Amino acid sequence: MSFLEPSDLPASGSPDNLKEFTRELNLDASKPTHGHEVSIEQQHASESVGALIRADNLIAGYFPGVNILNGSDLYAKEGELVGIIGPNGAGKSTLLKALFGLVNVTSGAVLLRDEDITNLRADQLVKRGVGFVPQNNNVFPSLTIEENMQMGAYQDPKSFKERFEVVTDLFPALGTRRKQRTGSLSGGERQMVAMGRALMMAPSVLLLDEPSAGLSPALQDEVFVRVKDINASGVTVIIVEQNARRCLQIVDRGYVLDQGKNAYTGTGASLANDPKVIELYLGTLAKA
Ligand SMILES: Nc1ncnc2c1ncn2[C@@H]1O[C@H](COP(=O)(O)OP(=O)(O)OP(=O)(O)O)[C@@H](O)[C@H]1O
Ligand SMILES: [Mg+2]
Repeated sequence: MSFLEPSDLPASGSPDNLKEFTRELNLDASKPTHGHEVSIEQQHASESVGALIRADNLIAGYFPGVNILNGSDLYAKEGELVGIIGPNGAGKSTLLKALFGLVNVTSGAVLLRDEDITNLRADQLVKRGVGFVPQNNNVFPSLTIEENMQMGAYQDPKSFKERFEVVTDLFPALGTRRKQRTGSLSGGERQMVAMGRALMMAPSVLLLDEPSAGLSPALQDEVFVRVKDINASGVTVIIVEQNARRCLQIVDRGYVLDQGKNAYTGTGASLANDPKVIELYLGTLAKA
């Protein structure tokens, strides 16, 4: 996170030293810390200006009176690759679903290029350039790869040929195996289909929920490379990941979500090297 400067770090970085060091500072991301009088909320307000997509102080949940998001802030600027990590049940998927109109936002706002898109229906969001790949059930297994891509372009069937070319440039295997039923593909290949399908509508921002989940380490690596490629092709990406360390290596900026609220934010590198983030989140998550 950005509250720590390299010069703040103790010279000797043994775990014990670091523990003592963080205790001394009494790091608490929800409060101004260590002479840097900026809370996460203030940081969000000042840095999110001009963002492509932003969520301000979201309160959302699945049942009335039971909030899962408790004032969550997030933004992504045009071209950015932004990661969300955090423990199981922290609300990461709920946050992506709230951005995509799949869970009711009761307070706060989601803005796309400063247009209020809070609680819009998913098809409206796709039309406006938001793509979403959910954590589970993200392909139609009984359909072929090509048919999955057609489903992706159902709002604009005329664009199919052109978009399919763009998507198969990114994922050549989707072209060569276009007639194969998606249910017969490996987990990694299915993730490519899911991402390809979402790209068929030429989204300006793509929301990805744990694309590497359940894959072997080699396939996970491939997914991360593909996500980088998608981002390099000009698509702003917000990615939720269980593989926190790997995620922080590829993202421009990241958020650590805990109990429906941002606990930490900063560049991928600063989060990955933050003693408190390591102690609280990366130790166990990295092994997950
Ligand atoms: N459809 C739903 N209906 C009711 N409660 C839900 C639903 N989906 C999630 N929840 C609850 O919301 C909380 C946050 O879940 P969410 O799936 O957002 O967490 P997560 O951070 O994505 O976790 P994971 O790392 O396991 O994917 C959990 O307590 C979960 O039980
Ligand atoms: Mg999840």
